[in-house]
Amino acid sequence: MFVCVCSAVSDRQVERALDEGADTLDALAAKTGAGACCGSCRPLLLNLIDEHRYTPALAA
Ligand code: FES
Repeated sequence: MFVCVCSAVSDRQVERALDEGADTLDALAAKTGAGACCGSCRPLLLNLIDEHRYTPALAA
């Protein structure tokens, strides 16, 4: 599923970038291009960043 239509970035690409340490909007934009155009996907990207941050704690 695309999370950023402008840059054609999928949720899997975002998850991979998060796993590689790109855990801010700027870092995700630099690594994948997501959020670097119109910005309408940024709230969703922020949710994915938050989920990524808290998932390890929930699993522990
Ligand atoms: S939809 Fe992501 S920057 Fe436009």
